[in-house]
Amino acid sequence: MLPVLYRLESAWQPDGGPFGRFTFSLFNLSGGPLSAFRLVYTSLTRVIEGAACENAVFLRRNANFHEFAPPEGLTLAHGEHWTFTVNGLHREAKHCTDGAKSAYLTLADGSHVPVAVSDLRLEGAVSELPPVRLPKGRLELPFALQPWPAEIDAAPGEAVPDVLYPAAESNADEVDAVSNVLALFHRLFSAGHAPFSLAPSPQGLPIVFKKKAELEGEAYRLAFSDREIRLDYGAAAGRQYALTTLAQLIDGARNHGGDFRFPASGEIADRPRYGWRGCHLDVSRQFYPTADIVRLIDILAWFKLNIFHWHLTDDEAWRLEIKAYPTLTTLGVMRGPDEPMLPQLGNGAEPVGGFYSHADVKAIVAHAAALSIEVVPEIDIPGHSTAALVALPELSDGQEAPESYHSVQGYPNNALNPAIPLTYEFLEKVFDEMVELFPSRYIHVGGDEVADGSWLASPLARKLMEQEGISGTFALQSYFLKKVKQMLTARGRKLVGWNEVAHGGGVGTEGTLLMAWENPKVGIELAREGYDVVMTPGQAYYLDMAQADAWQEPGASWAGTAAPAHTYAYEAEGEFPEELKSRMKGVQACIWSEHFLSRGYFNRLVFPRLPAIAEAAWTPKDKKDWLRFAAIAPLSPIL
Ligand code: ACM
Repeated sequence: MLPVLYRLESAWQPDGGPFGRFTFSLFNLSGGPLSAFRLVYTSLTRVIEGAACENAVFLRRNANFHEFAPPEGLTLAHGEHWTFTVNGLHREAKHCTDGAKSAYLTLADGSHVPVAVSDLRLEGAVSELPPVRLPKGRLELPFALQPWPAEIDAAPGEAVPDVLYPAAESNADEVDAVSNVLALFHRLFSAGHAPFSLAPSPQGLPIVFKKKAELEGEAYRLAFSDREIRLDYGAAAGRQYALTTLAQLIDGARNHGGDFRFPASGEIADRPRYGWRGCHLDVSRQFYPTADIVRLIDILAWFKLNIFHWHLTDDEAWRLEIKAYPTLTTLGVMRGPDEPMLPQLGNGAEPVGGFYSHADVKAIVAHAAALSIEVVPEIDIPGHSTAALVALPELSDGQEAPESYHSVQGYPNNALNPAIPLTYEFLEKVFDEMVELFPSRYIHVGGDEVADGSWLASPLARKLMEQEGISGTFALQSYFLKKVKQMLTARGRKLVGWNEVAHGGGVGTEGTLLMAWENPKVGIELAREGYDVVMTPGQAYYLDMAQADAWQEPGASWAGTAAPAHTYAYEAEGEFPEELKSRMKGVQACIWSEHFLSRGYFNRLVFPRLPAIAEAAWTPKDKKDWLRFAAIAPLSPIL
C-alpha cells in the first residue's frame, strides 16, 4: 500500500454562493516542501464560475475535471496545508459523495502524484446520519424466496433434505439443468453446501421432471412431499427458475434455519409478471472487469431477471472493441493527465482504460444465454459520444464552433453529426460487428440527452437542415435516428432507446421499444404514441440515486432519492390506462456508474434495491409484501 503523501479535505457550506461553496484544504504529508504545483480534482458538483474562488486560480474545467493553481509562490512545508474556497457551483451539494472523487498534483517537472480524498463534509447545517434502510421484516411463510412466487401454498417442514437430485428417469437436458443451477449456486455462495447432487442420495429427495405443454416458457410448478419433488416446466427458462427456487429454499432452510424452512408438502405455481425484467449497467463511466460482469449476470439469474442491458459507450469511454475502428478502444478508453481524454469521475494521476474484446463479449453473452438472460448492448448515440469523437476526429465537423453546446454532464460538442456521411458509414460497420457478437433481438441506441442547440453551429448540419427542411436539434435527431432504425431493421434487429428517441418526430413505432427514464408519466405518453415501453424511472429504479435525503447517505440525487421501501412499492404500471397496459413490457433497474468507485459502494447502492426491482418485475402486485421482502433481502448474493 502506498503511503498518502498528500490529502485533500473538502467541505460544503450552504452559504457563500448561489449554490453554496466548497472549502478545500490540501495537506502536504510528503516529508518535504511542496511548491510550484497545480491541483486537479474530479467532482460531479461542477464549478461553472471559475473566477468565483478565493486563494486559488481556477485554470480549466472539462466536464467534472477541475484544475487549480495555488497563489503565486506558495510553498507548503511538511504538515502544512493550503485552503481555498470555490463558490461558482452549478448546483448544491446534497450528499457526502458530491465532493472531490479523486485528486492529483501536477508538479513543476510535469509529473503527476496522487492525492487522497475523502467524503465531502457538510458545514453550517446538520450532517444527518444515514437512516436504517431495511426494517427487521416479518414472515408469514418461512420460505427464503426472492422474488416471491405468484402462487404458493406450501407447509413448512422440520427437516432439510441433504440434497435434491434428478430422478432416475430424468433426461440429459434435465440433468444438465440441475448441474447448471448447482454451478450458479457455487459461484454465488462459494462457502455454501450444495443444494443438488447429480448422483442419487438416500438422505436426499428426487426431483421428478415433467415437461408440460400448457406451461409458458418461464412458468413452472413444484409439488412437495416427503418422497419426491415434482417439477413441471414448459421450457428451459421455467425449469431453471424452478431449480433456482429449490436452491433458494434449501439454502435458506440450511443456513438460516431460525427463520426459514424447506416445504414438507404443498405447491408453488409460478410465472413472471412481466416479460422484460431488466438490469442495466453503465460500464463507460467505470470499467468493470469481465469477472464482475459475469458475477452480476449470475446475480440477475438468481433473481430471475432475464435482460442484461449493457451500456457500453458514453462520453467517458467506448468500451466495445470494433475491429474496423481500433482507436475506439485505444484513444477512446484511456483517461489520464496526459491522455487525449482527461481524468473524470474518480480517475487520478494514473491513466486508466479498459474495454471488452470480441472474445470477452462472446464469453459474457454465452454465459448469460446459459442462464436464460438476453444481453441487450447499447451504444449511446448521437449524444454522449465524446469518446467516439476523440477516437475518430473525422466524425466531427471541423468548422463547428468549439464549445457551441454542452451536454447536461458538461461535455462540449459531444454528439455524432447527422450531416457527415462518415457518421453513417461508421455506424454501419459498428452494427455489422455488433450483430455478429450479440444475438439479441434488440440493439439499444441511446438517444438520450442530446443537448438542445446541438449541431446548430455546424455548417454541415445547417446545410443539411436547409436541404431537408429540418428545423431544430430534435427534428435533426429524428432524421438521424430514423436512419439508424433502418440500419437495424436491415440487420433484423429492433431498436431500443431512451425516451427522448420520440423527440422531434421520433422514429417509427413499429418494433421500437423505448425506456421511460425521466419520469413515470413519460412512459404513458410514449405508449399513447404507439411505442412499446419499459419503465425505468430514475425516481424509483436508478440505483445510483441515494437511498435517503440524509447528507451521510451516499449517492446522486438529481432524480430524487429512492429508499428501498419506495423502490419496492413503486408500481410502474400504476397509472397506465387499461387500454395501454399491453404496451408496458416490463421494468428495469439502471446502474449508472458515475459514483461507483468501489465494490463496497456498488453493493451499498445496488442492494437491496436490485432484488426489490426483481420482485416488482416478477411477483403479482397483490403478492408484494415489503416486510416479507425485508426479511429475505439480507440473504441476497452481492457482487
Ligand atoms: C439517462 O439517464 N440519460 C438515460
